[in-house]
Amino acid sequence: QSIAPYANEPLTDFQSEENRMAMEAAIARTKTILGASIPLRIGAEKIFTDLMTKSVNPGNLDEVVGYVSKADLEHAEQAMQAALFAFESWKKTPVVERASYLFRAARLMRERKHEFSALMVLEAGKNYAEADADAAEAIDFLEYYAREMIRLSQINETMPLVQIQGERNKFSYIPLGVGVVIPPWNFPLAICAGMTSAAVVAGNTVVLKPASPTPVIAYKFAKLMEEVGLPDGVINYLPGSGSEIGDYLVTHPKTRFISFTGSKEVGLRINKLAAEVAPGQIWMKRLIAEMGGKDGIVVDETADLDAAAQAIVTSAFGFQGQKCSAGSRALIVEDVYDEVVAKVTELTRRLAVGMPERNCPIGPVIDESSYRRILNYIEIGRGEGTLAVGGRIAGGNGYYIQPTVFVDVEGGARIMQEEIFGPILAIAKAKDWREAIRLYNDTEFGLTGSFFSTDVDRIEEAAETMHCGNLYMNRKCTGAFVGAHPFGGFNMSGTDSKAGGHDYLLLFTQAKAISFKT
Ligand code: NAD
Ligand code: ALA
Repeated sequence: QSIAPYANEPLTDFQSEENRMAMEAAIARTKTILGASIPLRIGAEKIFTDLMTKSVNPGNLDEVVGYVSKADLEHAEQAMQAALFAFESWKKTPVVERASYLFRAARLMRERKHEFSALMVLEAGKNYAEADADAAEAIDFLEYYAREMIRLSQINETMPLVQIQGERNKFSYIPLGVGVVIPPWNFPLAICAGMTSAAVVAGNTVVLKPASPTPVIAYKFAKLMEEVGLPDGVINYLPGSGSEIGDYLVTHPKTRFISFTGSKEVGLRINKLAAEVAPGQIWMKRLIAEMGGKDGIVVDETADLDAAAQAIVTSAFGFQGQKCSAGSRALIVEDVYDEVVAKVTELTRRLAVGMPERNCPIGPVIDESSYRRILNYIEIGRGEGTLAVGGRIAGGNGYYIQPTVFVDVEGGARIMQEEIFGPILAIAKAKDWREAIRLYNDTEFGLTGSFFSTDVDRIEEAAETMHCGNLYMNRKCTGAFVGAHPFGGFNMSGTDSKAGGHDYLLLFTQAKAISFKT
């Protein structure tokens, strides 16, 4: 059966009354099934632990999304053994069959897209468009990686080796073994599904440790993979404490690779632990680590200032600034500084804060520790710049904070340097566009950036000199599309793995060259 060329899943237009009502209905349906108990899934077994953690709606703290089993070290060992056992047969499963599970999962997820999105509205605090984009990206990853693995399996036809006389030479990408998949909560479906499905379609088996704030969405994905018939033990769903079972799994001698997306701090810790060789370990563990960002938008005096201001606000405050790609800095040349600041301030003021289920543009931040950290950064910001808008908590039974803009911030300020991961934008004035780019590059991170200008020579120079993994010209710095914008960052933003790109699956394989004497 032929496979259609890859195309991105269309985003839902919520201006349409019909689509909005469909999402409202999905939210209403989801609310009727909230509060269920969620088991661990190890091999074929579903295990309900005595100790459960509560996943709570960050936009309505009285609403429990689910009671989630909590794995201990014994469960972690069982999950590792289940994954090791499943690997022996999964690695021999033909690529087309492995890919077929992803295609089936994509089809079902597409049919139930609003159902997945509704859960993200309630567990992660995403508004309709943010949740829908997350679900669409998850579908994209499944569709894309299935095709990519098939492509890699045909490498001898598409990129044949040199055939020396008297030999037949062949090349194949074989799996690595058991991987530990550790996703973040901020793209609770897309990144979880993307990291897991890439590992699995490449022939590996995994222990999936979901992010603590969004385990119910991760379970819904794991259940979908079970529904499409993925063999037991290929994905082992193991919610639990990052520091406890995370450390155990990372240091386990049978762990072959770790696929991590999360903060710089945790990523560096995993990097260090993974480098140590445990007794009985016979390989160097491979680490794929996508970490934080301190992304920014540069605006010069030739730019379309309305477009630039809109992009700054969208990039800074989409999903409350809780994206690794969030444009938390704006670097603006002095000739147009006041004008852009006025536009940004006005657009920010118009952003209503409220419940995600009512589709308010700005919802809550994810949990109490984020809430406190962000409010602390607002206090730091007061000492480092001038508060232009926001700066306070917002009403509601959740972790609501006003979108906040500080202006006249110096490049070295903490709110210009540290990843805040919340709705705070810092704006700096530059004397000219090259100085603005210098300020942009003055960071340990290097994930996303945008340059706004109409001058083609400057755009060409900025393309070369702005140092980041995902650079955009005259558009926002969030919202990478699978296949179009392979995603990953430089420096402390991680290993630049380029999720959603042609290189990504190579990270989950090892290549074997075989030469047959003829
Ligand atoms: P986090 O680092 O706190 O947690 C990430 C994951 O690591 C979670 O599953 C967590 O439970 C787990 N974890 C925590 N301690 C661990 C340990 N000792 N061992 C193993 N696992 C452990 O990050 P987060 O708050 O979930 O996500 C936000 C961060 O993720 C931000 O820094 C953001 O920039 C980054 N992020 C990066 C990308 C990217 O592609 N570069 C994408 C999304 C998010
Ligand atoms: N891939 C996500 C974006 O580009 C993080 O916004």
